[in-house]
Amino acid sequence: MKAAKWQQDAQYCALVNDLLQTPEVQRLANYTQHHHSDRLAHSIAVSYDSYRIAKRLHLDYISTARAGLLHDLFYYDWRETKFDLGTHAFIHPRVALRNAEKLTDLNPCEQDIILKHMFGSTLAAPKYWEGLIVSTVDKYEAQREFFIPWRRKLHARRIRRLS
Ligand SMILES: [Fe+2]
Ligand SMILES: [Fe+2]
Repeated sequence: MKAAKWQQDAQYCALVNDLLQTPEVQRLANYTQHHHSDRLAHSIAVSYDSYRIAKRLHLDYISTARAGLLHDLFYYDWRETKFDLGTHAFIHPRVALRNAEKLTDLNPCEQDIILKHMFGSTLAAPKYWEGLIVSTVDKYEAQREFFIPWRRKLHARRIRRLS
């Protein structure tokens, strides 16, 4: 099987490999995220796309890549688990931040990226451009992952028509 684009990017892999190897991050593969994706695949997609944008804009692409990978570091099904303290959009960035802080040291930019990634659903705006990138890419990936099966069906139909 062909390696994914992020796996072929040696610089990106070097930035996140220590986190990616941990059981805490690997465990994310056990959770469905947007119906048709798991939380690990989603986290890598958000991290890698955000990293590329931040790098192109000469921003802190290291913090972007690392915090992007950890932005959804929580272990429950958000469709089933509800909290009295607030909505999923409000709670899970706080849970993810607490879990990420157990895993590695986070700088202020990384903390803010994780905590504010639900901007739009919550009112707290990211303090850094890097956070705005991760928050925007997160929303893009969520809708992309949700529509994967329909896109595949459409593609298969086009191929059938051409053959
Ligand atoms: Fe999230
Ligand atoms: Fe996310």
